[in-house]
Formats: sequence, C-alpha cells, structure tokens
Amino acid sequence: KLIAFAAIQGGYKVVSEVEGLYQKALATFSADTKVEFPNTAYYLPVIYSLTGLKVETLEDIKKPLAFARGLLPPHVRGKNHLPYLGPLLDAGMAGIIAYEIKEALRIVNQPDFYIAQEDPDIEAGKIWTGPADDTILRKRGVEFVDGSAPGFAAIVGAAPNPEIAKMIVEDYQKKSLYIFCAANHNGNTVIEQLIEAGVQIGWNTRIVPFGPDISSAVFALGFANRAAMTFGGVQPGDHKKILMYNKERIFAFVNALGDIGTEWGVAAAGCVNWGFPTIADTDIPEILPTGICTYEHVVTNVPHDEICQKSIEVRGLKVTVSDIDIPMSFGPAFEGERVRGADLHAQCGGGKTQCTELVKMAQMNEIEDGKIIIDGPDVGDLKVGDTFPLGIFVQIAGREFQSDFEPILERQIHHLVNYIQGIMHIGQRDISWVRISKSAMEKGFTLKDIGVVLHAKFHQDFTKILDKVQVTLYTKQADVDKLTATARDEYHTRDSRVDKMKDEDVETYYSCSLCQSFAPNHVCTVSPERTGLCGAYNWMDCRAAFEINPTGPNQPIEKGECLDPKLGQWKGVNDFVYKASRGAVARYNLYSMVVDPMTTCGCCECIAAMLPGCNGVMTVGRDYPGETPCGMKFTTLAGVMGGGASSPGFVGHSKHNITQGKFILGDGGLLRMVWMPKMLKEEIKDRIEKRGAEMGCPGLYDMIADETVGITEEEILPFLKEKGHPALTMESLI
Ligand code: SF4
Ligand code: NI
Ligand code: NI
Repeated sequence: KLIAFAAIQGGYKVVSEVEGLYQKALATFSADTKVEFPNTAYYLPVIYSLTGLKVETLEDIKKPLAFARGLLPPHVRGKNHLPYLGPLLDAGMAGIIAYEIKEALRIVNQPDFYIAQEDPDIEAGKIWTGPADDTILRKRGVEFVDGSAPGFAAIVGAAPNPEIAKMIVEDYQKKSLYIFCAANHNGNTVIEQLIEAGVQIGWNTRIVPFGPDISSAVFALGFANRAAMTFGGVQPGDHKKILMYNKERIFAFVNALGDIGTEWGVAAAGCVNWGFPTIADTDIPEILPTGICTYEHVVTNVPHDEICQKSIEVRGLKVTVSDIDIPMSFGPAFEGERVRGADLHAQCGGGKTQCTELVKMAQMNEIEDGKIIIDGPDVGDLKVGDTFPLGIFVQIAGREFQSDFEPILERQIHHLVNYIQGIMHIGQRDISWVRISKSAMEKGFTLKDIGVVLHAKFHQDFTKILDKVQVTLYTKQADVDKLTATARDEYHTRDSRVDKMKDEDVETYYSCSLCQSFAPNHVCTVSPERTGLCGAYNWMDCRAAFEINPTGPNQPIEKGECLDPKLGQWKGVNDFVYKASRGAVARYNLYSMVVDPMTTCGCCECIAAMLPGCNGVMTVGRDYPGETPCGMKFTTLAGVMGGGASSPGFVGHSKHNITQGKFILGDGGLLRMVWMPKMLKEEIKDRIEKRGAEMGCPGLYDMIADETVGITEEEILPFLKEKGHPALTMESLI
C-alpha cells in the first residue's frame, strides 16, 4: 500500500503548502480582505457544504484550515501499515479542503486568473473558467437531477497527444456526460490539447476548462455539493448527507491521465469520500485499498480507447443514448403503420424465409457495448420484391442482468423495430416477420439501424438491469439456421421453466397488455399453465418483467374467488380485465375456447378453431401457409380475430400451451385435438405423446390428422373414425 501511504503523505504536503500560502497572504493583505468565488451564495462550497463554515474573509480561512490539519492522521506509521481506510479518507478530505483554500487564495492574488463565465475566451488566451457561478449551477445542475446529463467525468492531466484527448472526450460527449477538466501533466493539459485538435470547449459543449492545476479539480466537487444543496435540499454542514447524495445521485468519476504522484493521490483519496473512483492510464499497482464501496476506488493502467467504457462500468453509471441515430423517424407514432405490397422493398420471415430473434446474456468482457455486426449481405444488395433470411442476435451484459430477463428484452424487439418509420415487424421468436418499405430504403435504411435502435432503446428502457448491448444481424442462410437451432433450445428451456407448476399452486396470475397498441382491448392473463398467446411470455417471465418495471405492462392479478373451476374463471381476473380493457371485456375463461374465451391479438403463435362436424378442434400455427379444415388460413383467422376480441369458437394460444395441463381443459382438453399442420405436430411430438398418455390416450399423436390426411372436415372424419379418436365419443362440443 505504498501509494496509499503516498496519498496520506500528500495530505500533509498539501495542507502544509496551503498553510504557507495562507501566512503569506496574511502578510500581504489585511485579515478582513474579501475571499470569495464569484457570484455564488455558497461561499467556498466544499467547506460550506461539509462544515457549514462561511468563508468570507481571509480571517475566516483559519478555521477550515485548522480543521483540515486536524483531519490528518496523527502520525504516519510504517509504510505498509494501514489498519483501515479512515485515515486515508480523512487525509484525502484534508487535501480537498486545502485545495479549495488554495484556489480561493489564488483569486485573492490574481483576481483575473479565471474568467468566471460559461465559455472560455480562447482568442484572448483566457481559457480557464474557474468555479461555476450560481447561474451556471442552476442551468446545468438541474440536468444532473432530471437525468439529461447522467454524470460527469473529471479529467486531470493530459493525454499523450491531442488526438487521444479528443477521442476520450468525444466518447463522453456521445454519452451526454459533462467533462470537467483540471490539472496538467508535465505542463500539458487536456483542454489545450482539445483546442489544438479543433474541439470546441466550454459549458455549452459540456467540456469545462476548470483550471490548469490539480487544485482546480476541487471546482468539480464544489459543483457537485452545490447541486446537492440546491436540488437535493441537503443542509450545509450535513456532511454525511452531502456525501451520500453524491455517492448515490451524482455519477461521477476521475480520469487521471499521467503519473499519479502525491498531489494527485491525495485528490483521488479525497474523491473516494464522494464515492467517485479514479480510473488512470498509468501503471500504478494500487493507490487505495478496495472494499469500502461496491466498486473499485482506483483502476490503473487502462488503455485510452477503453477508459470511457471502463469508467462507466466501474462507477456503475447508467448511460442512456438520447437520440437514436438512424436516417428514419422513430417512435411509437410509427408502431401501427403497415408496409403494404406496393411499398414493399424486401422482407424476411412470414413463412417465406426464416426470421429468428434471440436475446442472450453475455459476460461483461465478452461483448462490446454498441457494437453492431452485419454478417452477410445487407438490404441494399437486394432487388425489389426479394426475400432474405434474418437472424437478430442480441447479447446483453450487466451487473444486474439475469437470464430470466432475456425473454422480456427479446419481446421488445417487436415494438422497437415497429417504431422505425417504414419498417414493419410481426411475430416473435423463430416466426418473426420483417417488411422493409421502399420509402425506408430511399431514406437510407440498412440493417444496422435495427441494431442501433435496439442498443439505444435497451439502454434507455432497461437502464437498471443492463450495461452492455451488442447486436449481430445474420443474413446468410447457414448462420440463420444455426442461430435458429440455438434459439429453439433456448425457447425450450424457457418454456419448461413453468412445466412443473400448476395454476392451483399460485394465488397470483400476471397480466400482459403489451399488445394494446395494436389490439386496444386485449389483455393476456398469464398463468403457470397458460403462457401468453405469443409464446414469448410465461408466468415466470411476467413475474420478472413486473420486478424490473413495477408500473409496466405486466401486473400481478390476485385470482380471488373462483367463479368456474372447470372453465377457469376468477373474480379477480374478470375485474382486472374489465378495467384493463376499459370496460370492453367483462369476463373470460382461461380454460375454454367455446364459452367466453380469452381475447386474442395478432401476435398469437397459433389459433385454435372448433370443428363441430368432428366434435373436436383444430389449431394452426403462423408458419403454416395452407388451407385448414375450418375453412380459413392462418392469416385470415388472424385478421378476423386478432383485434383483441373474445370470439367464441376460436382462441389464440402459444405452441407451448397446446400441451400445457389446462389447454382448453373446460372443453375436454388436448383430447379434442383432431387436426394440426404436420410441421407443428412434429415439432411438439414428444410433448403430445406425453400429454396424451397423461390424459389416458397414449396413442393420441397418431390419431391427430394433418394436411396429408385432408384439409376439410369431410376429408379427415374417416381418418378419425378409423383411428378411434377420443373426440368422437366425448360429449357434444356445442
Ligand atoms: Fe403480452 Fe399477450 Fe402480447 Fe404476448 S401476446 S406480448 S403475452 S399481450
Ligand atoms: Ni404485438
Ligand atoms: Ni399481440
């Protein structure tokens, strides 16, 4: 802990130096000489906020300076002896207080050193703005409170060259952070480097040139503490609250560019009191012991092109990318728009090609935030009317991220892609469908824009749970197939999370109203044995979604009194649905498609329909384009009943739901199933066999007709009779 020792030593050094400067000032000026930072009601703000002491004259400096001296650890013992962090923090605080006094004395000695305005006057050679006055504080500080500025990076020292300085600072600008600059390294400063590189500096561009010495870094802390008093209502002198406010609310950190000596070391130690860690580009083993905060205090030897990302990670800063950088307009206003045939440039999925989306958790070091990879030809390479396969693979990393959240993020792809003007998205999982309009192409749409949108919006909407988002878009058949195979395994794992649960096991179901933008009256009630009809949300997923966003589209529903155990109707569910559908739907049954079935929206994976002539039901998946025994194709069925109505005789449901325990159990359950497309039947063969056996019909799978048997009731009835299908002997369906 050599450096920690150095930081303590630095505290002594700085306090002693400032005591000397103070004596000199007293010898030069009278004790009642005015001492102030210009145009502020907060005196010397660090001293005032932490101790309540108001420094207005030279005489007034005596107390805080003595206070700083008193904070220094009584004696510095052997260099490796550091029993606890306290002395180090105190030494750091002593250094910060001394630095603020040093700056106040500078203003006494050189009243024109700082220009005290928003922007530097570079032509006049006056680049250092010094402490912000209260006007700037009110205007800028509020941005830290309302979230338009997520925090600040205090950069001390200088980069190896102007290009690197520019790169680092622009990284922060893109993330809307303020950059507070102070100190020099061997006489060079970041600010002068930026000016040389042609970067515009000043409060307006969020690059603030506080001053050329390490002591000027205290202006950043003073700014933060004034924000706590102005906007956080913290009382001056309540040092615990001030520091806690900063730790919790002001996401700031220090970047040290250049060697950290004792003077920077004490400043870094001081910043730990605020919860602001130091991330350095130099190779110093360890400046401070770790363990007091949830994150490291000091990270050293960080390469310049990683310093922004690393700092944000270490401080746990949640960055929102404010505007979405795509050539088309973007927002909920475009969600409901359609891309019709005449305006279609190209499309993927929709039964024509494979289109799959998958969100997977990644390790922090595995992915790069904001990276978007297009693997294969882009849409610009296509002719009008072309189709192409697409795999959207989103990787997410975050300290708070759990694999349980994957389906929730994945389900957002639907509305987020729809938010892009001129792009239409339907479906989910491995049955997605994306249509790209000619007008979007004219504006310059490329597949990358999908990645840009997902990255930006995931950061914005899920800031609490994720830190990094990387998106890969596959357009080569083999890659899409590979992703699809992986994705199907994932879907299976997710679906089976609720397989052992029964509706009777829980008192709480969950609602999902995510689809109300398309189907305004539609509310899914998701129970353990009835996943959402899109297949993307099961009971566990809804519970996790509620956890992440308690005011979001997934709300707990207390079942309440059971009104019909056979059909699956509860008072609590009815009450909720009535309210959530704004009075349009008064009740529905979870276990019936014949009597008051649940509402259906256009996202459903499958639609079941009654086949009265067979005394049974059929179901058809989105990916089957052909005719069915009910007389309608999937698209027609979806068009008729996908608007959020409850349509007796029909119901939308997920693939997984077919073999769940409560699937239309009030109507006889899976034993009613007389027809399915071959593809769907084969996909869930094992589960049909298992569920059939559970229901006392082990041979059910082979009794269910498909399109190779027929596509009308007349065609399939002889087959059902021959196989002895159980539906034929069940009580009449109507
Ligand atoms: Fe939610 Fe139902 Fe829409 Fe799926 S279909 S997103 S569960 S409302
Ligand atoms: Ni939808
Ligand atoms: Ni929907």
